[in-house]
Amino acid sequence: MFDESFFKIFNESQASEKQPTESSGDVEEIDFDRKPVVLSVGGSLIAQEKPNASFIGKFSEKIKELWTEGHRFAIVVGGGAICRNYIAAAKALGANNYSADALAIMVTRVNAMLLIQGLEKAYPQVLENVFASKKVLNAGMIPVYGGLLPGITTDCVAALLAEFLGGTFINLTNVDGVYSSDPRDNPRAKFYPEISYERLISLISVAESKPGQNLVMDLPSCLILKRSKIPAIILNGNDLDNFASAVRGLPFKGTKVCEKA
Ligand code: UTP
Repeated sequence: MFDESFFKIFNESQASEKQPTESSGDVEEIDFDRKPVVLSVGGSLIAQEKPNASFIGKFSEKIKELWTEGHRFAIVVGGGAICRNYIAAAKALGANNYSADALAIMVTRVNAMLLIQGLEKAYPQVLENVFASKKVLNAGMIPVYGGLLPGITTDCVAALLAEFLGGTFINLTNVDGVYSSDPRDNPRAKFYPEISYERLISLISVAESKPGQNLVMDLPSCLILKRSKIPAIILNGNDLDNFASAVRGLPFKGTKVCEKA
């Protein structure tokens, strides 16, 4: 299952008790034709009340199928409801925002480690360094991340990874894509099959000013997508065939984010 380069990286990182970094060896350019697809997998898909092994198994199978076709991935895993419960408990105990986020990041990494267990080509540790992603991809494995830094989100980590890798971005979430307002509150909300970075940013800016909004993306993630013109898709991760169609460039249900829509 793993080739020589896997063991080289693994042994290096074990020997130094560090994760692979850009300076821990020569970094080759990514040598496959297709751009890597960076996936932001919503925590709600991986774990709700308890971990969802069934979703992880099906998702891992789909990734394997797409990998066999030549698609390459880096994956970032979110926190979900468990994470929000930890944040609430920490706040009840008097934690400040920084500490609550640091705790939440640990939860995202637990979810990421869980996903790794199902994912055949995954590098076996949750990565904490964006630079390491190239090295892991070049060794024929999938880099998997949770959160990285208090104050941001896992969507933001995925946008930064896509920027660094020159890849594309897919947000697998639990809604079908971007709506003009929350479709649960407003049944007449308009669905966007395509939206420009500018329009998405203005929708999010308006929604963020209203407390209690459950947003499909946050503002910093969208600003990163825009500044590097990263092709992005937002879709429902529960429909894995639809997700596969998006990766294959076939018609899919979801929202494409691009420069002009
Ligand atoms: P997310 O909000 O990204 O996970 O991280 P999620 O639940 O999958 O998000 P949705 O489904 O897209 O809404 C959970 C929490 O972890 C902290 C933040 O507190 C965030 O709300 N976090 C995550 C960070 O502080 N830094 C990170 O880099 C990532």
